[in-house]
Amino acid sequence: MKSKPEQLYLNLLKKTLAFTLWPEPPIDLGKYNYSLNPIKRSVFSLIGFILRRSRFTLCEKRALTETERLEGKIWPPGYGDTMIGIKRLENIQDCVETVIREKVEGDFIETGVWRGGACIFMRAILAAHQVDNRKVFLADSFEGLPEPDPDKWPGDADDKHFAYDFLAVSQEEVENNFRKYDLLDDQVVFIKGFFKDTLPNAPIGKLSILRLDGDMYESTMVALENLYPKLTPGGFCIIDDFSLDGAKAAVQDYRRTHGIDEKIENIDWTGVYWRKARL
Ligand SMILES: C[S@@+](CC[C@H](N)C(=O)[O-])C[C@H]1O[C@@H](n2cnc3c(N)ncnc32)[C@H](O)[C@@H]1O
Repeated sequence: MKSKPEQLYLNLLKKTLAFTLWPEPPIDLGKYNYSLNPIKRSVFSLIGFILRRSRFTLCEKRALTETERLEGKIWPPGYGDTMIGIKRLENIQDCVETVIREKVEGDFIETGVWRGGACIFMRAILAAHQVDNRKVFLADSFEGLPEPDPDKWPGDADDKHFAYDFLAVSQEEVENNFRKYDLLDDQVVFIKGFFKDTLPNAPIGKLSILRLDGDMYESTMVALENLYPKLTPGGFCIIDDFSLDGAKAAVQDYRRTHGIDEKIENIDWTGVYWRKARL
């Protein structure tokens, strides 16, 4: 075994952030019950309420394959600090190490951070390579997704993500997650609010990594419109949620409108990326 210490650290961190070192524990049905029909949900709520009085929790045991865990196919997400799985974390590492190695100028941003794990990993890669002149921006409402605005964004008409409470993770919780890994410092910058309000005037200069994970048409399009022009040629645009109709349509519309024809590469069943062509 000849891996360098920084690679061993980053490998361990990927497994820790994605929670693949341990068997996936059962999930609390009181919290993750949105997919149950109303009758089942009421019955489980009642049983859960009775059990909680005796300090028990009603849980569902999860049967996940190794592949599902590697590819972040855990929905609703359970215990990881990120839901993106090992393959998409590896893609972040490849892209970040490439821009460092090739000196592509610019900071990193993820739009849609949830518990912060993907951004914790970006900050960790900078630490592992002793890079102190790049920042990691985290853009999120820290309150979950916006309600669809179908008049402005017809592609979001049936979107239900705003109703999933478990997607609302507070900034305080994300900061605490960074602290767990000793990675919260002034290279980490929070941009709190809905993208349409924050991104047009965000204090962001050049970017070399633009990672989008906002799930909806609006969230993806607003991020692309405001941030893609800041991506340095040679930088990477990563789309986490290309399997979702809204996000995919926004990417396709933006690329068509702006004549972007760099090849889209697949990461796994949902993640894709392309590298902005050098001029
Ligand atoms: C799928 S989760 C992100 C998962 C995360 N990248 C990870 O590593 O696990 C989507 C996140 O996007 C945020 N979000 C989506 N649309 C948004 C918008 N328009 N404005 C602000 N936050 C948004 C939600 O609050 C949520 O935290």
